[in-house]
Amino acid sequence: MLTNKKIILAVTGSIAAYKTPELVRQLVKQGAEVQVLMTRAAADFVSPLSLSTVSKNSVYSSVSDNDQWHNHVHLGRWADVMLVAPCSANSLAKMAHGLCDNIVQAVYLSATCPVLVAPAMDEDMWIHPSTQANVQKIQSYGNTIIEPEHGELASGIIGAGRMADPERIVQFVAGFLAQKAEKQALSIYKKALITAGPTYEKLDPVRFIGNYSSGKMGIALAQNLAQQGVAVTLVLGPTKETVSMPGITVVKVESAQEMYAQCEAVFEEMDLVIMSAAVADFRPAEQAKEKIKKKEDLDHMTLELVKNPDILATLGQKKTKQVIVGFALETNNELEHAQAKLVKKNADFIVLNSLNDKGAGFGTDTNKVTIISTNKPPYELPLQSKADVAREIINYISRS
Ligand code: PMT
Repeated sequence: MLTNKKIILAVTGSIAAYKTPELVRQLVKQGAEVQVLMTRAAADFVSPLSLSTVSKNSVYSSVSDNDQWHNHVHLGRWADVMLVAPCSANSLAKMAHGLCDNIVQAVYLSATCPVLVAPAMDEDMWIHPSTQANVQKIQSYGNTIIEPEHGELASGIIGAGRMADPERIVQFVAGFLAQKAEKQALSIYKKALITAGPTYEKLDPVRFIGNYSSGKMGIALAQNLAQQGVAVTLVLGPTKETVSMPGITVVKVESAQEMYAQCEAVFEEMDLVIMSAAVADFRPAEQAKEKIKKKEDLDHMTLELVKNPDILATLGQKKTKQVIVGFALETNNELEHAQAKLVKKNADFIVLNSLNDKGAGFGTDTNKVTIISTNKPPYELPLQSKADVAREIINYISRS
C-alpha cells in the first residue's frame, strides 16, 4: 500500500504520542520509509529510542544534534508526505501562525510535500474557537486534517479530540497518496512553470520602475495546477501576496533579468509554461549606487533605458515539447495586438485581458479574459474570480 513512500512523521507533545511506535510499525509494514521528528515535549510521552527502533532510522529532536545539522529544507523536499501525529493544540497554533522554534515547525515551513495533520487534545481545547480558527487557517494553507475521534480522553472525559487510531491514520495516508497519484495520472502536465507579479527595475537604492501587478492571476494558476498534482515552479516578482501550498516551489525575483535567469534554468524540464507576469520591457541603463539627488537648477531629467530580455519570446524560440501560454494586457485594438503577440512570441495560446473591462487586469480579485490560439476562434470568458479564470484557462488548454 505504501511501498517506497517516504514519510516524515512529526510527533508533538500529547499523550497520544504513546501510540506512535505502533503507527510507525504499521507504516513500515506497508513498505514506507519513515523519518521521525519529535518536539521536546513529545519525548515526555514516548521515547526516541522506541521510535528509532521501529522506524530503523535516527530520530531528529532538534535542528542539530551534537555537531550534526539536519537539513530541514532537504527533509521537506525528500518526503512524499509529512504527517503530524499527534498534533497538540500548541503545535497546531504554531503551524497556523508560522512560528519556527523547533525541528517540526522548521520542516513544516519548508515542506513542499502535502502535510496531513492528526490533532489530539482534550475536548474543551479541541472545540475552543481559537483551536478551530487555527484548524481553518492551516486548511486554508492546503494542509489536510485527519479528524480526531470521539472517545475517552486523557482527562477521563468522554468526548471529541482523541487522535485517530494508528490503523485509520495509515489507511488515510495510503488513500490520500493513491488519490494524488490518480490526479497526477489524469493531468496531462507533470511540471509547470508560471511567472507572476511585477518586476522592479532599480534606478537607485530607493527607487525603481515597476507596475501594479499583484501576482494574484499567476498565483491562482499555480494553485489550480498544484491541486491537480502538477509540480509547479512559480517565479514570482515582488508582491505582498503569500503562497504556501504543497506542490508549488516559489522562486522570488525582483527584476526582469532575474526572472529570465530563473525561467531559463528550469525551462527544459517543463511541459507547461504560463507567463502571467507583467515584465518591464526596459530598465534604467545605469543603477546609481547612491540616491539620485534633486538638482535645483534642473527643471527636467532624462532617464536612459535599455531593453530587457523578452522572456516569453526567448523561451518560445527554444520550445521543444512545452505548451507555452502568454498573457497580453492591452488598452486598445486588443484582439489585433494579442494575435500579433501569439505569432511574434511563438506561443501556443495568448490570454488577453483589457484594462477597458471593469474588474479585469491588475490587482483585482476578478478578471475577464479571451483565449487566443492559432487554430480556433477567440474564446471569450465572462468576468469571474481569478481562481475561476485559472480553472477555465487550464481546462481549455488541456482540451485543445
Ligand atoms: O498580477 P495581477 O494583479 O493579478 O494582474 C494580472 C495581470 C494583469 C498582470 C495578468 O493578467 C497579465 O495580463 N499579465 C501580462 C501583463 C503584460 O505585461 O502583458 P504584455 O502584453 O506586456 O506582455 C505579453 C507577454 O509577454 C506576457 O506573457 C508577459 O509575461 C511576457 N513578457 C513581456 C515582456 C518581457 N520583457 N518579457 C515577457 O516575458
